[in-house]
Amino acid sequence: MSPQDTKPFNPAAVIVLAAGAGTRMKSRLPKILHPIGGVSMVGHALAAAQGLNPERLAVVVRFERDIVAAHIAALDATALIVDQDDVPGTGRAVQVALDALDATAPVDGTVVVTYGDVPLLTTELLTELVATHETDNNAVTVLTAVLDDAAGYGRILRHATDGTVLGIREHKDASDAEREIREINSGIYAFDAKVLRDALKHVTTDNNQGEMYLTDVLGLARNEGGRVAAVVTTDRWQVEGANDRVQLATLGAEHNRRIVEGWMRAGVSIVDPATTWIDSTVVLDEDVTILPGTQLHGTTTVARDAVVGPDSTLMNVQIAEGAEVTRTHGSGAVIGAGAHVGPFTYLRPGTVLGADGKIGAFYETKNVTIGRGSKLSHLGYAGDAEIGEDTNIGCGNITANFDGVNKHRTVIGSGVRTGSNTVFVAPVTVGDGAFTGAGAIVRKDVPAGALTLSVAPQRNANGWTVANRPGSVPAKAAENAENS
Ligand code: UD1
Ligand code: MG
Repeated sequence: MSPQDTKPFNPAAVIVLAAGAGTRMKSRLPKILHPIGGVSMVGHALAAAQGLNPERLAVVVRFERDIVAAHIAALDATALIVDQDDVPGTGRAVQVALDALDATAPVDGTVVVTYGDVPLLTTELLTELVATHETDNNAVTVLTAVLDDAAGYGRILRHATDGTVLGIREHKDASDAEREIREINSGIYAFDAKVLRDALKHVTTDNNQGEMYLTDVLGLARNEGGRVAAVVTTDRWQVEGANDRVQLATLGAEHNRRIVEGWMRAGVSIVDPATTWIDSTVVLDEDVTILPGTQLHGTTTVARDAVVGPDSTLMNVQIAEGAEVTRTHGSGAVIGAGAHVGPFTYLRPGTVLGADGKIGAFYETKNVTIGRGSKLSHLGYAGDAEIGEDTNIGCGNITANFDGVNKHRTVIGSGVRTGSNTVFVAPVTVGDGAFTGAGAIVRKDVPAGALTLSVAPQRNANGWTVANRPGSVPAKAAENAENS
């Protein structure tokens, strides 16, 4: 059965467990706030849960609760934040969440339980879980996977002959024979609310870890005559949690592999998937080409026929059709259609490059609007400035925008040609069609159509090298020139 051709399965509630300490991460940052693909692990968990369109969503917190709660509230203002008390265990976590939800309005129907540290879990798999649960009228449906190494996980106990799910045994409580079982509990379930509520009343801390095990609910539900079943996924990544930074990197790489593959299937050429990192929030058009060593982060978008890379890192950059961005480090920039950036270019926030424009090698830009067809080709800094259309900024030009205390603007018109090493001492305005000579220091406004020169007359001291540096390489060269 495919979930798509049936009614939508919107659970009554989703409970996300996020109270654990995550000590193995060895971090001041709470574990579930560590990012994968630009989004925190709990952000991924919430996104997967929200995809189910649950009537209500609760997140159970305890460790670093204020930081975690603030982070969750920023992601989903409607999520109910529930504090776990001193009683430890997943069973207690779900119980306090259910109590808190019931306090507003009793939960009736399906309750999905999932974890805040399982970042690759998708809405599709959760939907399959809920669909099976509701279609088969189960009391409990647990998501399981068969692993080569099941150590540490709760094991799925099945009936010897009919194979039905009997319950779950925690690794620490399991016999040697039970530890041979390779089908594991993912910790993700769909429960009937009433079954869950009633069973939790009978869950104790009488086990190896002294915790209230949520897993005990399965055996209890079955004893009460409820159907307990499993959805077995073959995609082990979707049930894998990150407990330390090694697992975080492994999951991050797999997450990225999936995103990169998705974009290739959608028509993006990615020359080297292994060195291309794309956040889940990035959007690419068909026929975009991404060259090796490229990282695209945040709200970056790349339009049709644009080429990005190699070796470029872009955060929140918008690239229009057919633009080329080569060996560039950029954030908060907008690149117009057909424009060229790089190589070795540093785009800072507020850079807006017009269509067919250019910001070339060894340029730094910040808070500058550059009009259509204007070119800043080599070696310079443009900050707090506005440049018109079809202007050519010569090599080595600098906007001197900072007087030591305040920042000032430079305004350069259209059709301007500036000589090499021009310095614009802001605030200053250069009119349309003006020229500046090489080395000009523009301290006063330049009228349209004017040529600005700031030249000290050139003086040549003839014979200076031979007189003052006798016997040196330059002196010999000078002598040779005189004698030839
Ligand atoms: C739990 C399951 C185990 C399963 C494994 C999958 C139980 C008793 N065991 O193991 O069968 O194979 O997950 O990863 O449920 N949490 C709370 N409050 C608590 C304890 C945990 O909110 O008091 C949260 C954690 O933040 C985490 C999740 O529940 O997100 C699982 O906790 P963890 O301690 O990692 O799982 P295990 O007990 O090892
Ligand atoms: Mg535990």
